[in-house]
Amino acid sequence: MGKLLAANWKLNPTTTREALKLAKASDQKGVLICPPFPFLSTVKSNLKRAKLCAQDAFWENRGAYTGEISPEALKRIGITHVIIGHSERRKYLKETDEMINQKVKAVLKTNLKIILCVGEPYSIRRKGFAAAKRFVASQLKKDLAGVSKKQRAGIIIAYEPIWAIGTGKSDNPPETAEMSAFIKNFLAAKPYTLNPRVLYGGSTNSKNIKDFLKHKEIDGALVGGASIKAEEFKKMIRIASRS
Ligand code: PGA
Repeated sequence: MGKLLAANWKLNPTTTREALKLAKASDQKGVLICPPFPFLSTVKSNLKRAKLCAQDAFWENRGAYTGEISPEALKRIGITHVIIGHSERRKYLKETDEMINQKVKAVLKTNLKIILCVGEPYSIRRKGFAAAKRFVASQLKKDLAGVSKKQRAGIIIAYEPIWAIGTGKSDNPPETAEMSAFIKNFLAAKPYTLNPRVLYGGSTNSKNIKDFLKHKEIDGALVGGASIKAEEFKKMIRIASRS
C-alpha cells in the first residue's frame, strides 16, 4: 500500500470556486481531500482519483442535534473517510475523549474509515519522549474504548504533536517513526495481522515530507497549511508517490 496524503483544508477556502480549483490541483491517487462541509458534494462530483474525507462527524445519525453532521448522510454523498478528534476540535470545541469515543463507534457502524488524531501538548513533550508515549497511549485507550481489535486495525491514526501543528516546527522524523511503531504495537490486533496505518501531522511541507515518508513506520501525512497551497501540495504529492 502506498503512502497516503490527507489534505486537511480546515476552515478554508470560503468560495466554491476556490475549493474546486484546489481540489482539481490535488486530485491524485493516494490523496484524501478534506474540505469544509459546504463544499463536500461539489468537490466530490469533480474528483477523478482522490478520495473525499469529512473533517468531523457526530455520534448520532438523526435526531434533535442542531448543527451536527450525520455519518450516514456523509456516507450517502460518497465520503469514504472521516477525521475524528482533531486537536483543534479538542481545543476550541472542547471535545473530550469520551465524545471522541462515541464518534469513533458511530462512524465505524456506518462503515466509513476513520482518521483518529492523537498527540501530546508541549507541556508533556517537554518532560521527554516517554511521557509523550504515555500521553498518546492514554488517548488511544480512551478514544478506542469498546472498539474491537479487528476494528482497531482498520483505523488510521494521525499522530499530530500539538506543538507542531501550524507552528512551522515539525517533529523530528526518527522520533516520529518511533512513535508510529509504538502506536502500531499498541493497536496490534493479533490474530488479525493487519498493520494499522499511522500518519504524521504537524508543519509538513515539500521540504521536509520526504524525511518523514522515508521511514517505513510512517504511512503518510495529514497536511494542513501546505495543503491549501496548490503548487506546494502538488510537489508533496509527487514526493509521496515516489516514497
Ligand atoms: P499543519 O496542520 O500541517 O498546518 O501543521 C496539520 C493538521 O492540523 O492536520
